[in-house]
Amino acid sequence: MGKLVGACLVLLFASAFADVYMHRPRGSNNRLNEQSANRNNGNRLFDSQNNNRGGVNVGDKTNAPFNANNPASEPDATFNFNDKTTAMQYQEVYFEGSVLTVEWTAQHGCGGNDKDDSHTQNCDMVVQYTCDTDPANAVDPVVRQTVADPALTVVLRDGGNTNTPDEPNSYTDVPAGNAGRGHHESEAWYYECKTRQRNHGLFHADQRLARDTARYTRQNNNGNRNGLECPEERDYYPYWTPSPWRDIAYLTDTVDRCPYIQANSMNNNMKYKCTAATGTPTDQQLKPITKEACEAVPGAVWRQYTYDLPAPACEQAGWSRDNHLGNSRDGQPLTFNWTLPSFDDLVRSGVKKFGTQGNYLKCAFRLRYNISTDDYNPWAINSTWDDNPTAGIVSPITNNPTVDVGADLQGLRLAINTAQFGRTFQDRSHVFYIKKRPAAFNNKNIFNLNVRGKRGNIVQTYPSVEYDFVPNRLHVKVGDLVHLQWTGSNTHNNGNPGGDGQTGDAGQGQTGTDRNNFVQLLRLDDNYPMPYDKFQEKEKNMFVGSTCYNHDGTLISDWVDCALIAATSGYFRSKTAVDDTLNVQMNNAPASLVGGVVMSMNTAGTYHYMSSRNNNLTNRSQKGTLIVS
Ligand SMILES: *[C@@H]1O[C@H](CO)[C@@H](O)[C@H](O)[C@H]1NC(C)=O
Ligand SMILES: *[C@@H]1O[C@H](CO)[C@@H](O)[C@H](O)[C@H]1NC(C)=O
Ligand SMILES: *[C@@H]1O[C@H](CO)[C@@H](O)[C@H](O)[C@H]1NC(C)=O
Ligand SMILES: *[C@@H]1O[C@H](CO)[C@@H](O)[C@H](O)[C@H]1NC(C)=O
Ligand SMILES: *[C@@H]1O[C@H](CO)[C@@H](O)[C@H](O)[C@H]1NC(C)=O
Repeated sequence: MGKLVGACLVLLFASAFADVYMHRPRGSNNRLNEQSANRNNGNRLFDSQNNNRGGVNVGDKTNAPFNANNPASEPDATFNFNDKTTAMQYQEVYFEGSVLTVEWTAQHGCGGNDKDDSHTQNCDMVVQYTCDTDPANAVDPVVRQTVADPALTVVLRDGGNTNTPDEPNSYTDVPAGNAGRGHHESEAWYYECKTRQRNHGLFHADQRLARDTARYTRQNNNGNRNGLECPEERDYYPYWTPSPWRDIAYLTDTVDRCPYIQANSMNNNMKYKCTAATGTPTDQQLKPITKEACEAVPGAVWRQYTYDLPAPACEQAGWSRDNHLGNSRDGQPLTFNWTLPSFDDLVRSGVKKFGTQGNYLKCAFRLRYNISTDDYNPWAINSTWDDNPTAGIVSPITNNPTVDVGADLQGLRLAINTAQFGRTFQDRSHVFYIKKRPAAFNNKNIFNLNVRGKRGNIVQTYPSVEYDFVPNRLHVKVGDLVHLQWTGSNTHNNGNPGGDGQTGDAGQGQTGTDRNNFVQLLRLDDNYPMPYDKFQEKEKNMFVGSTCYNHDGTLISDWVDCALIAATSGYFRSKTAVDDTLNVQMNNAPASLVGGVVMSMNTAGTYHYMSSRNNNLTNRSQKGTLIVS
């Protein structure tokens, strides 16, 4: 009877939503190419614990949806902007060392501190990435062994369909169907997870965990599988076992914890696991999580792993209010500026090179949002406080307790689910590339200027967002480079099922299609673009006031060509090619500005711009400002 009740509660709670949504880089929330407002499969790649409607589809390169049997290509083909007809996915590309504005909304708020600016809960954000690995590139022997380990080997794919990868049944099992599906962690990573003993020191309140492996946690007591993600690694950070995720930053309301975080990141510290001294490990060898237990298993070794990268940044988290997927205190979006690592550092840490010139790396981005309360000390509590009636121990939190407030009431019921008290949410990006800088871009600051959101009006897109430029207001200095790029899907129809929101894809142009473009405005409150032929002063016309390059570093010598590429999303790349074939709402233009254009801002000025297709005064604003000082 007790078990039955438990199972029903789990089902009920599984439909409780709460959320973190990444808008830049574009968060998938497990979507791929769905035409529906709801995602098809919340278990596809990772456990987000988010609303089914969140996220955006993977990018399409052309004006047609990608081919499900051959979804993505090698970067040479992906970034060949002259091929406008071969349908495929588009993975965005960012230069090494460039600044990428990460932008998100988090429903329960974040920021503040316990001393004088308390929020309604404690909050931490764990910011990470992972990249395809190649041990041949790793210089350090420990790093080489790290990225050669099957559990830490990374092969990233957005995939051709929305199915969950199949579960591996042995250490070396890679189910054949997985080749066409999305893929972040490796099969061996998940096999190790479901074999490794769970950490018995963790606090579980009154949750009964079905089994004794890292697949089962307080937040995942029935061992649900999401992609090949390891639930215990998902729920706890810093994790004790080596992980395929590399750290970028920890944003917290308790910066006192920063020394601890930085001393326990796998970037710059050793992590250990039990494995076979040689050959394929047995389950017995994979089980232990302590050195002593490991060394007691015949043939096992307690091996060390690290990425040998700089420690992650650790900073005060930006403030946002709760019950609101919105902005920060200053009315601006919640952001973190990620300065991408150097290409050579990544290669030295065992990242695989792609493309005939070997100048691309393939990566994915992950944001976790962790909330807890002070009803118990989340950082000090352990399994000693787990509910244990026979030993007379009552967990400090229990499910939906009725409590006495001290007046003469018979009691008041609290809404508490110990599986979600604290709780971790997550979003991840689609796959993207990091590119080595061509010589023309060396020793320059590079800022990424991109587009967020998807087709639809404000209620139809929610909890994703309408189109906008990110950063919406970008401040750079003379001589800095701005890398302008966008992508979109041809299947953002936002149809049924729509879950708990409105379906529909209100917007300009052909139904289901995202298109973007970039035309200048004289004033930000104008809605008619600036006619470039009438305004050719370099302080007013940013294309005259800059030097423009293709992403491979080749010069676009005529400013008109650069303005045309931006205005037509690359449909026209030269004024000599212009004809009357471009649809005025850009239906036949590419969904992505392939490779983007890179502008070296040579002239101080304030430049305003918009997307002529999407900007629609009473419905949505897609405008931005670039200030060069
Ligand atoms: C739990 O924490 C206490 C200190 O508060 C410590 O004495 C005890 O050994 C810990 N138990 C476990 C299982 O980690
Ligand atoms: C989330 O916070 C809890 C404390 O409530 C901590 O035990 C856990 O490691 C954190 N997990 C992540 C992913 O940050
Ligand atoms: C990120 O960088 C931009 C441009 O330099 C700056 O305007 C913005 O304030 C930065 N954001 C944060 C959160 O530091
Ligand atoms: C524009 O907004 C109005 C409501 O103000 C709504 O009825 C209409 O569907 C919207 N159209 C588009 C294209 O978003
Ligand atoms: C915005 O788009 C909708 C749908 O095309 C249209 O009905 C409405 O008039 C447009 N609003 C403006 C101000 O152009």
